[in-house]
Amino acid sequence: MSGLRKFYRKTVQERWSTLYEKEILTEKQVEYLKDKTYAPEFGDSMIENYITDYTVPEGLSFHYLIDGREYLVPMVTEEPSVIAASSHGAGLVKKAGGFKTRIEQRLMIGQILLENCENYAEVCQRIEEKKAAILEVANKAHYSLVKRGGGARWLRCRQLADDLMSIDMAVDVQEAMGANMLNTMLEAAADYIHTKLDQNVLLSILSNYATECLAVAECSLPLSLLGKNGLTGEEIGRKIAQASRVAQLDPYRAATHNKGIMNGIDAVVMATGNDWRAIESGAHAFAARSGQYRGLSKWKVSADQLKGRIELPLPVGTVGGSIGILPLVKINQKILGIRNATELERVIACVGLSQNLAALYALISEGIQRGHMRLQAKSLAIAAGAKPDELFQVLNVMRKNEKNDLATAKAVVARIRRNR
Ligand code: MEV
Repeated sequence: MSGLRKFYRKTVQERWSTLYEKEILTEKQVEYLKDKTYAPEFGDSMIENYITDYTVPEGLSFHYLIDGREYLVPMVTEEPSVIAASSHGAGLVKKAGGFKTRIEQRLMIGQILLENCENYAEVCQRIEEKKAAILEVANKAHYSLVKRGGGARWLRCRQLADDLMSIDMAVDVQEAMGANMLNTMLEAAADYIHTKLDQNVLLSILSNYATECLAVAECSLPLSLLGKNGLTGEEIGRKIAQASRVAQLDPYRAATHNKGIMNGIDAVVMATGNDWRAIESGAHAFAARSGQYRGLSKWKVSADQLKGRIELPLPVGTVGGSIGILPLVKINQKILGIRNATELERVIACVGLSQNLAALYALISEGIQRGHMRLQAKSLAIAAGAKPDELFQVLNVMRKNEKNDLATAKAVVARIRRNR
């Protein structure tokens, strides 16, 4: 855009002035940006062309009992119903004895992609012969990881087309999500494969399809706990299981089913400074692993219990990247009380399952709109200009309305002010 050249070279103050001088923003809007700029020293060093901090609300979700331990879960989200739903689902599971989790390993996968490799079998054999040397080159590129007990663990070859193949490398990245470490190690190994094995490397990069970093969470609820609004626990359990079946059969429903799961997962991933795009892409790739996109969780009724299970890749970390930079992340780790990245994976998997339980429970009983609307009324009231000391009264009136939107919220605020 004209007039904004070398924007990246300017200081934050100069960028604000430019936005005003070029009439992109008014003085009042620039003042707003300044007011919302909490940590320019972090922001400006983390991203290009930084102008302010975009804040998203953070709240706490309660009632998580996981493998016998209680957790308070910080969640970052802009969606009004997410935290309430998460606590509701976790509360039900807690009454039934809590979640059980399972994590077998925590390895990240990287790819070295080769092109013009029509002689796949031959290349595979050479990679196999030189496996130890390739792993050593990768490990030398990040020796501090090896000293901490991590490092490259194995290689495998996969043919992708007549002329394309992937050499997958699995790396134990210890407590980090490990993207930078992995990429450094892959590039070193790719260089070796190019120069010593004479192969054409197309590119090398980690894979977000973290199939060697899977987390499983399960719960089992007595049907007697589930009865609500004239529906018996048996009926609710049966309908939740049916809804789960539909998410296995129909990608249209599966996408929404999984969106509900990711409502919870992303909120914790964000609160803990992890890369939610990486978790999203891995989760959706995993959901499509059978060749059809399906729900990440499954519910079934067995004897007098509703049993739920979720499994997904959760390559999150507790150190590295922005985790070490953002002060809130440290505070959130403290609130969570997690001792390592594996424990964080366990909590996140349970949040996904709990979020899903609450969504399905609402959908098959009272429907989602009633609860959503109750919570959205607050956002609408604030958007309609209600001041904190007016909110209680405004919400009381809105609660009685059949339907609320911004116009009705504005009308309620205006009426209350007139009657004061
Ligand atoms: C809304 O954000 C999430 C739900 O649509 C999830 C679902 O349908 O399972 C309620």
